[in-house]
Amino acid sequence: MSETLENLSSETRQFPPPEALAAAANVKAEAYEEAKADRLAFWAEQADRLTWAKKWDQVLDWSNPPFAKWFIGGELNIAYNCVDRHVEAGRGDKVAIHWEGEPGDTRTITYAELLKQVSQAANTLTDLGITAGDRVAIYMPMIPEAAVAMLACARVGATHSVVFGGFSVDALSTRIADAEAKLVITADGGYRRGKPSALKPTVDEAVAKSPSIENVLVVRRTGQDVAWTDKDKWWHETVEQASPEHEAQAFDAEHPLFILYTSGTTGKPKGILHTTGGYLTQVSYTHNAVFDLKPETDVYWCTADIGWVTGHSYIVYGPLSNGATQVMYEGTPDTPGRDRFWQIVDKYKVSILYTAPTLIRTMMKWGDDIPAGYDLSSLRVLGSVGEPINPEAWMWYRENIGRNRTPIVDTWWQTETGGVMISPLPGVTATKPGSAMTPLPGITADVVDDQAQSVPNGGGGFLVLRDPWPSMLRTIWGDDKRFLDTYWSRFGAGADSSSSDEWIYFAGDGAKKDEDGALWLLGRVDDVMLVSGHNISTTEVESALVSHPSVAESAVVGATDPTTGQAIVAFVIPRGNVDTEGDAGEQLNVDLRNHVAKTLGPIAKPRQIMLVPELPKTRSGKIMRRLLKDVAENRSLGDVTTLQDSAVMDLISKGMNTGK
Ligand code: WT7
Repeated sequence: MSETLENLSSETRQFPPPEALAAAANVKAEAYEEAKADRLAFWAEQADRLTWAKKWDQVLDWSNPPFAKWFIGGELNIAYNCVDRHVEAGRGDKVAIHWEGEPGDTRTITYAELLKQVSQAANTLTDLGITAGDRVAIYMPMIPEAAVAMLACARVGATHSVVFGGFSVDALSTRIADAEAKLVITADGGYRRGKPSALKPTVDEAVAKSPSIENVLVVRRTGQDVAWTDKDKWWHETVEQASPEHEAQAFDAEHPLFILYTSGTTGKPKGILHTTGGYLTQVSYTHNAVFDLKPETDVYWCTADIGWVTGHSYIVYGPLSNGATQVMYEGTPDTPGRDRFWQIVDKYKVSILYTAPTLIRTMMKWGDDIPAGYDLSSLRVLGSVGEPINPEAWMWYRENIGRNRTPIVDTWWQTETGGVMISPLPGVTATKPGSAMTPLPGITADVVDDQAQSVPNGGGGFLVLRDPWPSMLRTIWGDDKRFLDTYWSRFGAGADSSSSDEWIYFAGDGAKKDEDGALWLLGRVDDVMLVSGHNISTTEVESALVSHPSVAESAVVGATDPTTGQAIVAFVIPRGNVDTEGDAGEQLNVDLRNHVAKTLGPIAKPRQIMLVPELPKTRSGKIMRRLLKDVAENRSLGDVTTLQDSAVMDLISKGMNTGK
């Protein structure tokens, strides 16, 4: 981006919070004022949500920026805060997890049972020689033992590194090596798309390459045959036989809680390090505030996998620290049928649903009649995370799932931020479809130009965070320099040319402020297209395409062009009922190009549109524009190892050759 980002779209619809929800909301508008008046006092107040074994002496130590320390001198145990204290308060019989296996088997786990299992697992970790500070890799399907394993690590002060269960041998072994993990916790397999999907063979291969691993703890889930070595221990022969008594010891507020690897666009994965007191403070506060959680009556469901940060913060640590009752689902949304999500919402009377734009767009493509067949009246707050949500998908979510009643919270955050940073508050904010709205109380986000100057309302540029926040990453595991280079050297005190003494965190996202100052996230800045001297965000062109009634989903890239520098090339998935054969396809193509020109202006008109059956996505559902760019520029494909479904690129390339 040379200067600022072009601001092309305009959205005028606005939805105030439902009155009853607003009147009873956990967090009211005053919170913004209060936090602005004294940010550190505000966070100190939120830290009081937790039970501390020893209270902190100082809220923030920022004397060695950008290395923050929060709640200095404080001590607490995370597992105690997520489990024991609810049992001690007489809520042991309350359901913590309604677990739904993909084949339809279920388990109901109360807080008392969770305490028993976490204590047993903690005792087993100790028996296996794990002590505070050791690293443990967790490679699991979406079964309750995944959460138990994380909490058991936290309980004994071991730092967990969860690796998504869909990742390869290489991904697992490089993460094990980087963290020098001593133990892997895994399962024989899990259920996906109607059949058992093995995990243990991947672990076996990875462990063979990993000299640091001393033991492998294996949950039996699918009953598949597994190879066995003398490092392997069955969970049911160790954890389930262990003593259920375990006294949680308190750890320093800055004790390392977990490492989570994030791939980024290039280079080796970064081990994002999160610590104890600040992390739990912010995820607990935000889970309560953003979802307006009423632990006594709500049933909360986050559809993420535990292998992503969303699973860490908003399945395990946030909800459990708040004593929530939640649903956890093992499988895919289309097994056994495309109604599985709505069947689960109906069955458990889910009241808060947190999911991703990629899933919402998929549900749109599958058709309105599927959710229409279910009673979704229990829902009262809907959340979105992971990518910008197009206004059209937002409206579909509101109308077809929220039935025009429920607020939508579009939550912007990152693995690095640990917790939600920018989001509406459901009882306070009048939301706009497609906007994450404003930073939460206690958070200072801004949009700046390339000189680090705040852009005025109506302008676009780079999203930055100006003040440290409690759940911020502390460093990249083993690589302080990369931490500085990646996040702190573009703007502010960490930039070579800067005379400023303000440390500014660069998130890597483009964003704009609308006339009211609301924030619109515009995708990763690496994806921004430069067309005839204009910086155009892929997100805006994609949203314009999705606003056409024939389009279910789209991905846009900038391809080298001899006249305009870059030209816009769009890949479009038509909705299910749309005719794309022969002339109809050609007409649709013309219509779509004109539709974008009309919506955003002629500068944003795509040079070329391909109608495709699927888009390449990462396992976490993000579109891999890099691969589409390879196609658009007629190159052979780059690294496809993080691609969710490798057949997709064949389909797309085939479409290219037939001109469709
Ligand atoms: C990147 C972080 C946060 C948990 C899941 C992803 C994009 C995330 C939004 C949103 C627009 C979003 C950003 C961000 N992103 N949420 N609500 N609106 N963009 O975590 O894998 O670390 O990815 O996801 O580009 O930088 P992650």
